Amino acid sequence: MSSDIMQVRGLSIAFGGLRAVDDVTFDVGKHRITTVIGPNGAGKSTLFNLISGALTPHSGQVIIDGVDMTGLAPERSKAAGLSRSFQITNLFPELTVAENLRLAAQVLEPVSRAFLPLRYSTRALAKTNEMLERFNISHRRDELAGNLSHGDQRRLEIAVCLASEPKILLLDEPTQGMSHADTADTAALVRSLTEDVTVLLIEHDIGLVMELSDHVIVMHQGRRLAEGPPQTVRADPAVQAAYFGHA
Ligand SMILES: Nc1ncnc2c1ncn2[C@@H]1O[C@H](COP(=O)(O)OP(=O)(O)O)[C@@H](O)[C@H]1O
Ligand SMILES: [Mg+2]
Repeated sequence: MSSDIMQVRGLSIAFGGLRAVDDVTFDVGKHRITTVIGPNGAGKSTLFNLISGALTPHSGQVIIDGVDMTGLAPERSKAAGLSRSFQITNLFPELTVAENLRLAAQVLEPVSRAFLPLRYSTRALAKTNEMLERFNISHRRDELAGNLSHGDQRRLEIAVCLASEPKILLLDEPTQGMSHADTADTAALVRSLTEDVTVLLIEHDIGLVMELSDHVIVMHQGRRLAEGPPQTVRADPAVQAAYFGHA
């Protein structure tokens, strides 16, 4: 497909004898939501670690916009347009909401301004304000991130990822531990993100997966068990057996 932004090819890593990610191949369509599902321990988070460069694969490639990004350190893959959120919240709790955003947006500033006082960081400040408005948290800009509710922290984390203007956003279980209402808000938010970015999502709420995903990849014991449109994948007998626990 010419509208692919990322290609994952034969990606593998083993921890000792355990093949955590085993020869996984798939394409990611630009401005679409591709969701990785699979039981606990299937290798989903490890797959994200390989894509973001937190781990170096033993074999395989990650190609973004035609450029081989395999094994680049996270800072470098970030510079190339990849941003990820973690399964566990990854904010600076002792900084304010606005400060968390501004730190992330600082990469938008030209290097020549790196040593000037912060008030010269006009792009970073503008981006911070844009994110505060878009995520409906302007009234909380001076609140410490650590004081936000769990749902607001998870959403701020997505805002922080977006503040560096990535091309691809990796979201690892963004709704984990959220209330029903927060989950619904976050789903709407994730859907709105595809105007700007491509989303690669790990999600365990199957209702949400069906509602949000353009394309679903099913992992099982490190391998890609199936992939396709959500309805097709859900109806697949092999997926039924491995993931939903009945044949
Ligand atoms: N750094 C590591 N060292 C050893 N084993 C690991 C490491 N990270 C993950 N694993 C193992 O790899 C498998 C896949 O884990 P993970 O990718 O976290 O699964 P998932 O996110 O699908 O629940 C699990 O069996 C896990 O215990
Ligand atoms: Mg995981």
